[in-house]
Amino acid sequence: MKKKLNKIVNEVNTFLKNYLAKQKKTDLIIPIKYGLFPGGKKIRSKLIFDVGKIFNVEKKYLFYLSSAVECIHAYSLIHDDLPCMDDDDIRRGKLTTHKKFGEATAVLAGNSLLTLAFEILSDPKFNINEKKKIILINLISQSSGHQGIAGGQFLDLNYERKKVSKQKVIDMEIKKTGKLFSFSCLSPVILTNKKNQIKKFSLIGEKIGLLFQIADDLIDYRSSSKTAGKKTNKDSKRGKATLISLLGYKNAIIYASRLKKEIFNSLVSYGSNAKDLKQTIEFILNRNK
Ligand code: IPE
Ligand code: IPE
Ligand code: MG
Ligand code: MG
Ligand code: MG
Repeated sequence: MKKKLNKIVNEVNTFLKNYLAKQKKTDLIIPIKYGLFPGGKKIRSKLIFDVGKIFNVEKKYLFYLSSAVECIHAYSLIHDDLPCMDDDDIRRGKLTTHKKFGEATAVLAGNSLLTLAFEILSDPKFNINEKKKIILINLISQSSGHQGIAGGQFLDLNYERKKVSKQKVIDMEIKKTGKLFSFSCLSPVILTNKKNQIKKFSLIGEKIGLLFQIADDLIDYRSSSKTAGKKTNKDSKRGKATLISLLGYKNAIIYASRLKKEIFNSLVSYGSNAKDLKQTIEFILNRNK
């Protein structure tokens, strides 16, 4: 798993570096690259490749999808760390983008990474059927805006120090994290002609994203800042509404393992083709960073 993940990290980073190298040089490119490289675990890209494998999608297409997703993810982290949001100083083991370059630059680098995703998907070199391309751009837009990341982040901040129901916490986590995971699992299916699989992988992706966010909340609770590469033990201090704050640590773990089983059950029919995907899901739950 580690080896396969490392390969994806290197290949997606190379694709993005080459992509940026072809663009006009600007001063913003430095903070953009700072937010993008060396980059994190590339779990969303790994899922794209795992699902791509199930459906035999050509690798060259998967790089466009992964790079777009990683740009949006990097943007969301830069903004998540801003003083007006989670106010964090360390990300991926180094200073957050606003600590390094100032807030205005971090906001603008984030905006540029968000739009870079749309540049990548609408690039004529991403040579796929145009109808499918529009569907992809439409879906990634929905995943990022008020029905997705931005909407979820809004709820996350508004729920601080409030008692909210389990269903509301789950809805918030699905929006802020699940929707981009849903896009990651769904987008390789869009590239095939397997229309009857689209709904299924959209839901599986959402569930994997929820699992990922619960695992992130567990990491905040139990992992060290050094291991995680970001400050931990913060959610309770900020009064974040999480399944841990609501149900307790042990029950949150029980919830997560039930969710994992549910996801695995929906993958039974893919047999050994889903082996890599299942390994990634296992990694998502058991990681320490
Ligand atoms: C962190 O995401 C933010 C969440 C959605 C929980 P990752 O843990 O994927 O961050 P990197 O890319 O590996 O740093
Ligand atoms: C962030 O969730 C989710 C995003 C969409 C950026 P967190 O605020 O828990 O992520 P970390 O713990 O700072 O990485
Ligand atoms: Mg946050
Ligand atoms: Mg945060
Ligand atoms: Mg967190």
